[in-house]
Formats: sequence, structure tokens, C-alpha cells
Amino acid sequence: MWCEVALDRNLPIGIFDSGVGGLTVYRALHEHLPNERFVYLGDTARVPYGTKSLATVESYAVENAQFLAAHGIKLLVVACNTASALALPAIRRALDIDVVGVIGPGARAAVASSSGKRIGVIATESTVHSGAYTRAIAKADPSATVVERACPLFVPLAEEGWADEDVARAVAETYLKDLRSSIDTLVLGCTHYPILKSVIQESVGGHVGLIDSGEATAVEVRSLLKEKGLAGSASGTGALERQLCDDLDHFYVTDAAERFARVAERFLGSKPARLEAVEVWGEDRLKA
Ligand code: DGL
Repeated sequence: MWCEVALDRNLPIGIFDSGVGGLTVYRALHEHLPNERFVYLGDTARVPYGTKSLATVESYAVENAQFLAAHGIKLLVVACNTASALALPAIRRALDIDVVGVIGPGARAAVASSSGKRIGVIATESTVHSGAYTRAIAKADPSATVVERACPLFVPLAEEGWADEDVARAVAETYLKDLRSSIDTLVLGCTHYPILKSVIQESVGGHVGLIDSGEATAVEVRSLLKEKGLAGSASGTGALERQLCDDLDHFYVTDAAERFARVAERFLGSKPARLEAVEVWGEDRLKA
């Protein structure tokens, strides 16, 4: 007889990203779900994903997902837009828990908030090449028009801490100025772009609504957990007052932990209290 194994609502939520950018999604989840614990994996050894092929991103993403699943999680959030765009079906085949990517929630939030259904999407080269946002937006509203654009230089600018410098303004202007008159809504379809929100807003103009896919994902995850009876309780986390990066959340990286901590502090204002370097592939994965 087939029977579903009940998940413990006090298990943590797993999050993975190609590196440090997924911390913007962690922050949104933390804000919307203060009673949850999180286990985050940043694949800092193999970043960037945004220039890699479907086959490579799929194999990395499945390894990351299996690493987190082996740690006991009740749900997986794929924070990386590139992995969500290219590898969601493969991850879902590999895991027997719910897997939520950022593309669907971002697309639905854009359609819901766009008055004229003229939607722009900025993302990595591989996400744009996949056409995943265009398909997800068309699914939510077939009448919407979509223009997608790769903005790869935003990633190093955010990590360098130059989000408010003239160089970021010049890059944003070069990438985005011609979109100003053709869109009313712009999806920030890459983990790093919320860090550059203010220069992006300046470049596209105040009339364009910005959609943060991570934020939209956090809202959908909250509803999904409630619907499945899996929402964590404050008593389950053992603390009523949670702080970003406190010791109830566990962070893993596949390389360069010190750099991850430094950029985490830049993005979130604090370093992870629990941060460990691991290997998620090969034989060492079994020992982790
Ligand atoms: N995390 C990636 C994304 O959201 C950006 C960085 C990368 O290229 O790996 O698409």
C-alpha cells in the first residue's frame, strides 16, 4: 500500500543558490516566515551558473538539492534564478519534497501588479536564453508582452559593494535606458539585482514597478506551508525574536567561506553565526 510519510513542520526550509546572491531570497524568507529555521547552501566553488549550459546547471543543482535533502528539510527553495529557469524539473524528479523556484512566483507577481502588461525581465545570460520567464508570464497572462535582457555586470557590482556608486549608475543606464518607454513593470530576475534596486529604479524611471522574485517567492512559500499544515511554530524554533544569520540558521558553502561571510555582511548587515565549508559532490558528500 502506498502511503505518504508525514513531514515534521519543525524541520528547516532548505535554500540553495550558486553562491552568495541567494541571501537576498533568504532575507525575504526570513522576513515573511519569522517562525522558520533555514539551511542555506551557496555553491561558491562552481559559481557563476549564469553563463553555464543546461546540462551543467542541472547536474550542479541536483547535487545541491540532494545535499540539502539529506540534511532533513521540509521544503526546498531554489533561490538561484538560473537554476530555477534551467533545472527545476530535474530537481523535482530527484526529491520527494516540495520544491519552489523563483521564476513562477516572480512572473505571477509581475502580471498581478502590471497595469499595461508590458513587462521587462532582467537576468543572467542563461536565464534569458532559457526563455523561462517569458513562458511563465505567458502562462499567467497570454496577453502580456515581455522583453528579457541579460545584465551580467550587476553581479560583481553588487558583490563589490558598489551598488550606490557612479559606476553602477552608468552600467544600469547603459543596460536599461531604452526600456524606460516600453515597459511598466520590471522583474529583478537574478538574486543580486535587489541589492541594486535604487540605481535600477533611477534608470527605468519611477513609473516602472520593480518586482523582486525572492520577495514574491517568500509570499508563495508562506501560503504553501500553511496549506500543507507545515508552517513552523515559534516554540519549534526555540526563539521568539529571530535575527538574520543567527545560530538557528545553518549556512554551507562549497568554497571560500571567508569571502562568503564578508559579502553576507555587506548584503545583510551580519555574518552567519554558523557557516561551514563542505563538498556536495563525489565521495565527500556522504561524509558531510
Ligand atoms: N544566482 C544567480 C541567479 O540568480 C546569479 C549568479 C550566477 O550567475 O551564478 O541567476
